[in-house]
Amino acid sequence: MENISRRSFLSKGAMLAGGTYPAMMALGMLRPAPAYSFNLTGSGNGKKVIILGGGLAGMTCAYELNKLGYQCTILEARQRAGGRCWSIRNGSTNTETDKPTITARFDEGLYFNAGPSRIPHHHELTLHYCKELGVPIQVYNNVNEGAYYFAEGKGPLSNKKVRVREVHNDMRGYMTEMLAKSIDHGALDAAMTKEDAEKVLEYLMAEGGLDPDKLYKASARRGYIEQPGAGDKPGKIGDPHKLIDMLQSGLLDPDFYNVAEYTYELQMTMFQAVGGMDMIAKALQTKVGPMLKLGAEVTNITNLPDGVKITYKDALGEHALQGDLCICTLPLPVLSNVNNNFSGDVSRAIDYIAYMQTGKIGLQFKRRFWEEDDHIYGGITHTNNDLTQIFYPSYDYLGKKGILIGYYNFNDKAVRTGYLSYADREKLALQKGRLIHPQYDAEFENSFSVSWHKTKYNLGGWAVYSTDTRRDQYPVLLKPDKNVYFAGEHLTYLNAWMAGAFESARSTVAALHGRVTEQRLAYPASTKG
Ligand code: ALA
Repeated sequence: MENISRRSFLSKGAMLAGGTYPAMMALGMLRPAPAYSFNLTGSGNGKKVIILGGGLAGMTCAYELNKLGYQCTILEARQRAGGRCWSIRNGSTNTETDKPTITARFDEGLYFNAGPSRIPHHHELTLHYCKELGVPIQVYNNVNEGAYYFAEGKGPLSNKKVRVREVHNDMRGYMTEMLAKSIDHGALDAAMTKEDAEKVLEYLMAEGGLDPDKLYKASARRGYIEQPGAGDKPGKIGDPHKLIDMLQSGLLDPDFYNVAEYTYELQMTMFQAVGGMDMIAKALQTKVGPMLKLGAEVTNITNLPDGVKITYKDALGEHALQGDLCICTLPLPVLSNVNNNFSGDVSRAIDYIAYMQTGKIGLQFKRRFWEEDDHIYGGITHTNNDLTQIFYPSYDYLGKKGILIGYYNFNDKAVRTGYLSYADREKLALQKGRLIHPQYDAEFENSFSVSWHKTKYNLGGWAVYSTDTRRDQYPVLLKPDKNVYFAGEHLTYLNAWMAGAFESARSTVAALHGRVTEQRLAYPASTKG
């Protein structure tokens, strides 16, 4: 057979309507390229890399660098690895800056995720690592039309639990009815033909559940006041809430905007790790265990002419460690308090980038009344009080006991709850929660709360950029300061997601490996042509 050159094959192949790539694969001209392969070549030749912080970013750096022949040491201040990727189970402890250590007293098998609790379906690298590390995942129910809106206030629907589906469908009904009327009255005549206007009308009627007269009169979408069943039980649909009542009750305020569900990262399908999100951290830990020093708090980072010197203290005292290179994954508010000889620009960036104030409380109940009595299986109830949200667990449905996240709040609300003692946070969660679920009184057993901005070795939830800090400070930390690289969710556009830790780790590993092996490596591959 004629020996065809690659170039002539490619030009011929290109004519085979889209068959080029598979054909090249078949000829062994391309390496199989799963979306998230990370096949760097060349060896680190035993170069010593000191990694600061044993969270997801730090452990991923060590895991990938170890594959490439580097000698890594991870210094982690806590007695556990994983950082924010942390599930609270019986015996978990936390120490906040102004409080004594707290210990969780949950039943065996129950947990809540104090940090990340949900994985977007398009965070491919997070899912890739779950697969590579053998961590099973399950669907996380982020959206639940059967959960509640609860608005404290003076309106007719205030201080009542209103099913999310009632507000959503009533509002869709009213909005589509208004639009349908304006089309009927020819208000949009100039914008579309008669045929187009009819199509839009039909769409609006379907979208809003309007009747043949294009009026919103409520439908089964908003639920029943008497459920349908066998025999003479057709079910009964309630009257819609009046628009003015919803308005005056605060249900159209930002606390209840539906954007959370429309947000790209929060759209279903979402996932969680089976048995607690920190199963991901634990799986990584099994890969990097020998490199990991727990209880080692970094006290000084010094760039040397040909390497780095790190001092840290542990139970035995202060130690110094020298390496060729360093990757620092410490959260910036923590790093800000560590002695160093960084450049002025780097120090400024570390100090200027803001972090989210945020907290959660886990409440253990004797009975899953939200399922048994309210038919709520996973999802979120929203409030306009300090709770902000109640998260229902997406595991152990129909089980005996369960742990709710009794609040998950941000900013001012998180600052206020953060100041409270553990006991007062519990009191607040119960006081406000029982307005929605009076069952709290009879069923509550115990709690565990975490205020991330008050948690030692975190001092914040995640990096929050303003336009200015993204423009002026972010780029500074994407580059190494001599022999010290930086990594973590804070060095991505994926702030507050585990994907940020993973993507940043790979990006930093690629940059470091490129320097050591004198290759031009870019991760992620450029999206520009
Ligand atoms: N990624 C964070 C969450 O899921 C902000 O709530």
